[in-house]
Amino acid sequence: MVAVEAPGAEWWRTAVIYQIYPRSFADRSGDGIGDLAGVTSHLDDLVTLGIDAIWLSPFQRSPQKDAGYDVSDYCDVDPLFGTLGDFDEMLAQAHARGLRVIIDLVPNHSSEQHEWFQQALAATPGSPERARYLFRNGKGANGELPPNNWESVFGGPAWTRVTDPDGAPGQWYLHLFDSSQPDFDWTNPEVREEFRRILRFWLDRGVDGFRVDVAHGLVKAAGLPDYTPPADADSMGGAESEVPYFGQTGVHDIYRDWHILLSEYDGDRALCAEAWMPTIAQTALFVRPDEMHQAFNFEYLMTRWDAGQLRRVIDGSLEGFGGVGAPSTWVLSNHDVVRHAPRLALTFENPQGHGIGPRTAGRPDPVLGLRRARAASTVMFALPGSAYVYQGEELGLPEVIDLPDDARQDPTWFRTQGERYGRDGCRVPIPWAADEPAFGFSPTGESWLPQPEEWADLARDVQRDDPDSTLTLYKALLAERRRRALGAGHLTWLEGYGPDVIAFRNGAITVVANLGSSPVPLPGGHVMIASEPLVGDTLAPDQAVWALGD
Ligand code: NOJ
Repeated sequence: MVAVEAPGAEWWRTAVIYQIYPRSFADRSGDGIGDLAGVTSHLDDLVTLGIDAIWLSPFQRSPQKDAGYDVSDYCDVDPLFGTLGDFDEMLAQAHARGLRVIIDLVPNHSSEQHEWFQQALAATPGSPERARYLFRNGKGANGELPPNNWESVFGGPAWTRVTDPDGAPGQWYLHLFDSSQPDFDWTNPEVREEFRRILRFWLDRGVDGFRVDVAHGLVKAAGLPDYTPPADADSMGGAESEVPYFGQTGVHDIYRDWHILLSEYDGDRALCAEAWMPTIAQTALFVRPDEMHQAFNFEYLMTRWDAGQLRRVIDGSLEGFGGVGAPSTWVLSNHDVVRHAPRLALTFENPQGHGIGPRTAGRPDPVLGLRRARAASTVMFALPGSAYVYQGEELGLPEVIDLPDDARQDPTWFRTQGERYGRDGCRVPIPWAADEPAFGFSPTGESWLPQPEEWADLARDVQRDDPDSTLTLYKALLAERRRRALGAGHLTWLEGYGPDVIAFRNGAITVVANLGSSPVPLPGGHVMIASEPLVGDTLAPDQAVWALGD
């Protein structure tokens, strides 16, 4: 099977890519967990939305200790989500509709249930089985202390001690994430070869590319030296100083190798880096011409609702990525961050991955949050490059703050003893139909995380014919973006609007967003799209428009 032949080379330079988090998208089996048949059944809705491609978070075999980012068999579908046959059907149906499909690849670590890790546990120190992972002897008189001081991204130590087959305490293994996610040793050629095989397995099935999980983490500094991150470092990523487990130079060799492997295939296959690097310049290293094709622009995602900061990050992104010949990506939400609807109204620092919950002081104002989110998306879709949409943001879904403690499933919540809420609040199954069980998510009404009652009002079928809904706004923005090829366009800043305003041209479109607290004049020309219905002839605070002509 070959990838879809959509017009235009290098589709990934301008594509709008919709992230499907399979367990929360649509459940056809009725067990309360979304599945691949559910994805297939809603492809037409995605075509109507106006996206170009989908990215699927992991659906491969996994004990689901980290919602699938703990893979036990990279070349099979977990029965929770269906079968390889269901995958092939979904892919064929997507391609038949002109949608590209990229899938998640998790190369930094496997699941503890992966055959290789089970073999490593049964083998002895120094064996080839252990050499596929990062096993080390502990420190202290009896090896009772971890080999170094690294902390897991999810909290707690990054090392776990194993018990040898004879019952005695043994070596330690490294896991940058949960203890159920042992890190591979990428200095081992066998690991490199295995991932080439995995890439080929999916490319041969016809996928259009991969989103590469923890792309910055695969190679660790020789000797695994101690490292203490600064208190303000983002949990997934870095600090300004060199981090021995993120952004090591050696990772780039891996992507050069993969670049060559992908080029052997027809159909413009692509790689997108999930690399939480501290600066755009460092992220741009991953998209040099012989490496990956795209990298998530987390600097943009993390930018506060502030016109000066937003302008700087847009300029920095266009320069930084453009400087290496890559498109910039734009992203506001994903399955690891507080949804941008409430996030843009937060009045306090909330580091990535910490989440917000019932005991968080200072709840964001939901009305203000949605208003800002709609304005932010209105700005984003006019930017040249490729944009990502996280399922549900087109409905204006908020973060679910009031999840009960006993419903939470993110390892972050458990590893910090509830100190950090983690990411469950952005992963609640999405509403399709107001009057159906689980709002149309599942035929039985089951839902692996509880959906708030008020989501009935946000269901897709309620928004479909409402001219003022967030869904209608997204459709209008995406249709116009495509019609005018804004993804391939060029941004020119417009002066004279004041420090709290974002104003630029892309082709014939003028975009003005008011991030300040008083109204500003509307731009000249005809207003085609407004993030909120216009009242009078000014742009209200937290409102954005696209206008045509002067
Ligand atoms: C990044 C993924 O997006 C996140 O969900 C996951 O927990 C970590 N990588 C570990 O795989």
